[in-house]
Amino acid sequence: MSNSLFRTKKISNILADGGDDPHGPHGLKRVLTLKDLTFFGIAAILGAGSFSSLGGAVFHGGPGVVILFIITAIACAFTAFCYSEFASRIPVAGSAYTYAYASFGEMFAWIIGWALIMEYSIGNIYVAYSWSDYFTSFLQKLGVHLPEYLCTSYMEVKHALQDGSTNADVHEAWNTAPVVGGLHIIFDLPALVINVLITALVFRGIKESRNFSNVMVILKMVVVLLVILVGGYLVFSNGLTFNWQPANDAGVRSFMPNGFSGVMAAVSGVFFAYIGFDAVSVLAEESKNPQRDLPRGMILSLVICTVVYILLTLVLTGAVNYRHFEGVGDPLAFIFEKQNLNVGWMQFFVAIAAVVAMTSVLLVFQMGQPRIWMSMSRDGLLPPVFQKIHPKFKTPSFSTIVTGLVVGVPIFFTDKTFVLDFTSIATLFAFVLVCGGVLLIPRKEKKAGKFHIPYINGQLIFPLIIIGSMLTLYLVNNELFQRPVQFAFNCS
Ligand code: ALA
Repeated sequence: MSNSLFRTKKISNILADGGDDPHGPHGLKRVLTLKDLTFFGIAAILGAGSFSSLGGAVFHGGPGVVILFIITAIACAFTAFCYSEFASRIPVAGSAYTYAYASFGEMFAWIIGWALIMEYSIGNIYVAYSWSDYFTSFLQKLGVHLPEYLCTSYMEVKHALQDGSTNADVHEAWNTAPVVGGLHIIFDLPALVINVLITALVFRGIKESRNFSNVMVILKMVVVLLVILVGGYLVFSNGLTFNWQPANDAGVRSFMPNGFSGVMAAVSGVFFAYIGFDAVSVLAEESKNPQRDLPRGMILSLVICTVVYILLTLVLTGAVNYRHFEGVGDPLAFIFEKQNLNVGWMQFFVAIAAVVAMTSVLLVFQMGQPRIWMSMSRDGLLPPVFQKIHPKFKTPSFSTIVTGLVVGVPIFFTDKTFVLDFTSIATLFAFVLVCGGVLLIPRKEKKAGKFHIPYINGQLIFPLIIIGSMLTLYLVNNELFQRPVQFAFNCS
């Protein structure tokens, strides 16, 4: 029994099952190039994290959040190397699920397969809610007002009322909602509609999805660069660089006004901003040269987004004192408001870009989920219908529709905070298993043109890193060592 639970699948068998023959009649269409994969990576990474949760992050950590972006990027880069090694050795759809099967065995693969649902499907619920926030505020800028009870989730309103919220929108949603059998009909209609549209696009075909995604990535990159250039120029020309050394409550000016612990309080938002580079690996079977291009696509998209995040954080915290970001859900537009840099046309561009950016995240995650289910079905861990490929569109049709339902139905009864926690935990879990699993796959001789993670004996290096980290923590914040069991991070 235990043997069968932990039995691993040979890489040669995975490749045989998973469309190793690029032109096989039953496989997916191989149309994606390195550029497409990099664009898909950026499409998945740059979204709600930068356009929405960055405001909360800089409020906690001030300009010092830049350091957190660098630390998280290094951690994600190591994970990307491990994903890359796997993706180059096992270039089939399935991502961390397939990798866990090859290294840890069936039981872990099964667990991670379901954990990935939390990253892709549940993560998409969060992005759909954020998309709806930006979309409805964009409509309002155009003078179109949807009823409040159709723009928010039932749970959010209910929790806010239970907490005694005085927010006028919450009360309006509750008081104006139609009541059927005692139940207030409140749901996020735009979040539902975007889910249906994205599901239809993913169902329709990889080429259509790629073209749409590429256009969106170009648009959002142009606007993000514009924010960096216009915002950066105004920071210098208005002489606002003193904001990079803001004063804290004690009046001490610092790059990290709330200390390192203030910076660390932003970690969940920063980590969420990086989620997505791993989604490139699920496109292995649609990639023209997966062994070469998947690793490059993942690492390139990660590097590009890291640079963008660092520059964005500097522009944001230079343009406005970090304390003003409390409760700001649209920080990129906020810095251009009248009381700040006062550039009206930039607010308009950012609103459009935010909607576009989130749409592209939705698209990539919605494509990832069916391909993981397809792999699980091939292994007998889901019914065969999940691996059904549409004869005309060449996409995993049944899995795509089920994904649409898994994202769509919970929109009626969940809220943002709940789904965000699930997403981050599941993603971290997947990353840990992939990094551990890479040590277990059999070594193979190096081949030119394929990615190989360099092997470094960690016998000495690893303990040194631990000691070095402890020492650094002690020097930066020795309070942590005086209260070793009291973890009182403020992660609101
Ligand atoms: N990194 C993705 C985003 O920020 C999940 O939306």
